[in-house]
Amino acid sequence: MLDWTDRHYRYMARQISRHTWLYTEMIHAGAVVHGDALRFLNFSPIEMPLALQLGGSEPSKLAAAAKIAAEFGYNEINLNCGCPSPKVQKGAFGACLMNNVDLVAHCLNAMQDAVSIPISIKHRIGVDKQTEYQPLADFVGTLRRKTACRIFIVHARNAWLNGLSPKENREIPPLRYDYVYRLKREFPDLEIIINGGISTNAQIAEHLQHTDGVMIGREAYHNPMLMRDWDYLFYGSEHTPISHEELIHTLHAYAADQLIQNNSTILRHMVRHYLGLLHGQTGARRWRQILSDSRLQDNNADLILTAWNTAQPPL
Ligand SMILES: Cc1cc2nc3c(=O)[nH]c(=O)nc-3n(C[C@H](O)[C@H](O)[C@H](O)COP(=O)(O)O)c2cc1C
Repeated sequence: MLDWTDRHYRYMARQISRHTWLYTEMIHAGAVVHGDALRFLNFSPIEMPLALQLGGSEPSKLAAAAKIAAEFGYNEINLNCGCPSPKVQKGAFGACLMNNVDLVAHCLNAMQDAVSIPISIKHRIGVDKQTEYQPLADFVGTLRRKTACRIFIVHARNAWLNGLSPKENREIPPLRYDYVYRLKREFPDLEIIINGGISTNAQIAEHLQHTDGVMIGREAYHNPMLMRDWDYLFYGSEHTPISHEELIHTLHAYAADQLIQNNSTILRHMVRHYLGLLHGQTGARRWRQILSDSRLQDNNADLILTAWNTAQPPL
């Protein structure tokens, strides 16, 4: 998620769930090809399995970016056809690509020809006033026929390209989970992953009755410990889920190490992702306060332990 997630978030997420697939925020293909690829693409193997999401609409550039990304070791490359932001529309990529399925097919084919890892797509159920099921099925059906893409992540609401902010575009257009379920029924050979407004494990379990997977965005950010049960609930793992105590000590060690290793890393870059770790628990407010107060500027990772010890209820 742009401006929210980064490698520090993914490190934390991977401590909480060993098996969940993680996706990067969208990175523009041009930035990878013409910019500092190392800065945009570098990740720690611990984050894997990890997919890179690319934005763009120029097949040759997407192919070049995909090739570079595959060399970095990503497990999957995803094409963003769901972002409605005005800036992204101006660049003629993201959700507005849903209006040009042939160009999307061209992009996906160019990417797939460049790499041997899977290519996937993330899209909406429609754009603007296009709210019927059939055009969505035609979009997916065309891509199935014309490309080798078999993984479709579907944000189950329309993108309104005019008049709504990106935030409103995640809240106002109605959710149509039934459309996504129907896609799975009509295209059983495709891997259909549902996304949008899902926030509990019970909801995930219900969606898995109808689809192959569930993508969680905001809830996994604001309440990361939601992911703690996923390995045993959804991946059959027998490992004991990580405790807060263990996680926080691991994150303390990680943050201390990052501060030593990398001069440009500051404590805030990491702890901003930790604020939701005590979501719904006693001491959550104290935890967030300490991790946001002026002591952050000292860049001493021990602040994480101070916050944890202070947030604990007295025995
Ligand atoms: C701050 C923010 C940034 C986002 N950035 C991206 C992005 O880079 N790529 C993408 O495919 N979706 C992005 N999204 C959308 C989410 O991936 C997701 O589709 C949407 O929030 C609905 O799912 P949720 O209800 O589980 O959050 C972003 C969402 C938020 C809140």
